[in-house]
Amino acid sequence: MKIAFFSTKPYDKLFFGQENSAYGFQFNFFETHLGPHIVNAIEDEKVVCAFVNDKLNRQVIEVLAQKGVELIALRCAGFNNVDLEAAKEFGIQVCRVPAYSPEAVAEHTIAMLLTLNRKTHKAYNRVREQNFALNGLLGFNLHQKKIGVIGTGKIGKAFIKIALGFGAQIIAYDLYPDQQLTTQGVNYKSLDELFKESDIISLHCPLTSENHYLINSESLGKMKDGVTIINTSRGNLINTQDVIKALKERKIGLLGIDVYEQEEKLFFKDLSTTIIEDETIQLLMSYPNVLVTAHQAFFTTEALTEISQRTLRSISDLSTKGITDAEVML
Ligand code: NAI
Repeated sequence: MKIAFFSTKPYDKLFFGQENSAYGFQFNFFETHLGPHIVNAIEDEKVVCAFVNDKLNRQVIEVLAQKGVELIALRCAGFNNVDLEAAKEFGIQVCRVPAYSPEAVAEHTIAMLLTLNRKTHKAYNRVREQNFALNGLLGFNLHQKKIGVIGTGKIGKAFIKIALGFGAQIIAYDLYPDQQLTTQGVNYKSLDELFKESDIISLHCPLTSENHYLINSESLGKMKDGVTIINTSRGNLINTQDVIKALKERKIGLLGIDVYEQEEKLFFKDLSTTIIEDETIQLLMSYPNVLVTAHQAFFTTEALTEISQRTLRSISDLSTKGITDAEVML
C-alpha cells in the first residue's frame, strides 16, 4: 500500500516512520499543501494523508479519483477542508482522527492563560538582561476567578478539570450540557450570562455555521471590562477586527490565540526572513497583552503518537476489511 503525505513536516516523518514498522506501508512525502497545483504528482498511491490546511475540493477529489485513490486519511480531527459530497460521489472514503490527547490542547490553553497573566515570557527576557524589577509583571490569581468555558466536550472537560484544580469557578455553555459536570460544581448558563459574568473566557467548541464570529462587537459588549479571552479552537470563532477594536478600547485585558482566521497563509511555516503582508496579525502580535501561538496546542509527543497510530490503523483497516471505523460520513 502506497500513501502520499501532504503538508509534511519533519515530525510527521518521524512519528509516522516509527509507527510504520508494524505495517510496512510505502510513504511518499510532499512538503507542499495538497491542492490543484500538485494533485497530478500522485502516481499509484491508493491513500492520500492530509492535514488541516490541505484543500480537498471537488476539483482535487476528481483528479484523486481518476488516479485511483481510495481513501483520504486526515491526520487531524476537523474535516471542514474536505468536500465530502464530492468524495462520496467519486467513491473515495474519508477518515480522520476523531480524538487525540484532549489533555494536550487543554494544557496548552492553561499555558497561554498563565503566560499572559503572570508574564513569564517577559520575565524570562528581563532577567536575562539583569533587570530584576517587577514593574509591569503584575498578574492575578486564578483562584476564585470565574472562567467561562464554551464547549464542554473532550477538550473543554480536560480544561475544566485543570481549572477546578486552581480553585476557579466554572461557568459553562454547550448545546448539550453534561450532567456529570454539574455534579462537579460546573454551572451551565446561557451564552449571555456566561459573557456577562466571566473574568476569563475559553473557547472549546467546533466551528460551525451557527457560531462563526461568536466573539464579535455585540458579544464583546456584554463582557466584563478587562476580560481575558483564550481561543485554542478555530480562528473563525473570533471576528479579529472586532477583537482589535476591543483591545484598543481596553475592553479585552488579555488575548491568547492559538488559531487565527487566516492562519493557512502563515502557520506551520518559518517566515522569519519574509515580509509578512498580513497586517492584522502584525498588529495583534505588536500588542503587549496578546499572545499568539501557531496552532501548536495539539503538539505533544503523546498526541503525535496517537495521530500516527490511529491514521495507520484506519489505512490498514481499509486494506484488510475494506472499511475503516474512523470514516467521516455525510
Ligand atoms: P468535542 O466534539 O469532544 O466537543 C465539542 C463540544 O462543543 C461538544 O460538547 C459540543 O456539544 C459542543 N458544541 C458544538 N457546537 C457548539 C456551539 N455552537 N456552542 C457551544 N458548544 C458547542 O471536540 P473536542 O475534541 O473537545 O475539540 C473541540 C475543538 O477544539 C475542535 O472542534 C477543534 O476546533 C479544536 N481543536 C484545536 C486543536 C489545536 O491544536 N489548537 C487540536 C484539536 C482540536
